[in-house]
Amino acid sequence: MVIGYFNGEFIPVEQAVIPIDERGHQFGDGVYEVIRVYNGKPFMLDEHIERLIKSGEAIKLRMEKTAEELQQIIHEAVQKSQLNNCDVYIQVTRGIATRKHLFPDAPVSITMTVRPMQVTEETEREKGKTAIFHEDERWTNCYIKSLNLLPNILAKQTAQEAGCYEAILVKDGFVTEGTSSNVYLVKDDSIYTTPLSKQILPGITRMAVKECAEKLGIPFIEKHFTPDELLQADEVFITSTTNEIMPIVRIDESVIQDGSAGKLTTALFEKFKESIDIVQPI
Ligand code: PDD
Repeated sequence: MVIGYFNGEFIPVEQAVIPIDERGHQFGDGVYEVIRVYNGKPFMLDEHIERLIKSGEAIKLRMEKTAEELQQIIHEAVQKSQLNNCDVYIQVTRGIATRKHLFPDAPVSITMTVRPMQVTEETEREKGKTAIFHEDERWTNCYIKSLNLLPNILAKQTAQEAGCYEAILVKDGFVTEGTSSNVYLVKDDSIYTTPLSKQILPGITRMAVKECAEKLGIPFIEKHFTPDELLQADEVFITSTTNEIMPIVRIDESVIQDGSAGKLTTALFEKFKESIDIVQPI
């Protein structure tokens, strides 16, 4: 069952009404997380909640709830959904108040949905996805998982209109990340990805991939790279909570090597699956 939650109440998603003066909806004044639940267990929940709290701190949002309380709300919603494999969306905003830019004296709003997991078919992953390069037009604080996603949305839409799946963002001649994913290249049996900074989101899947690479003995090198270097790579892939590990086989008109999912990317995904322990994907 799809579950909706708004400020302490569980509600059918289609009936949920957000007050006109809710700041998430008027200003995008809030932060969010997307968390995947495998076999009833939210994957890397501690890390997601820690990032949510850090995002809140970065925008001076008083979270009002402890990490444990936030986890509790998520567990309750997942239980109510009766879904073993699902995607949780949670956002925390600066609350409801008559529209003014300055921070209101209002309690935060917490909104959540729990929906069946959007499973990627294995054949789709074997084929890989395509991408475009796109100017990174976002602000300088992309480490904050903020609700303000307009540049991401516009770039992703441009990708789709070009028949592609993701837009790989480029700033000052270097790749930063995807519109909703982190980006990696494989060269000479090492994995390269953009170093953490204010310019990219510290992906939770990125963390998991780093661990998987260590377990497999594959060097994981955090180093800036250019679009050209990406095109010359042996393999390219992206990661996110919902894509997990996804090969990229073409960017703009350039096919990456032979245009199929890379060996090392596939090995990494196998290791990742062990860590999430998928017993019975729905
Ligand atoms: N997006 N970079 C950006 C800009 C993202 O929006 C995301 C995730 C990632 C990957 O982060 P993680 O591995 O923690 O999911 C990187 C989520 C899934 C979204 O907005 O839907």
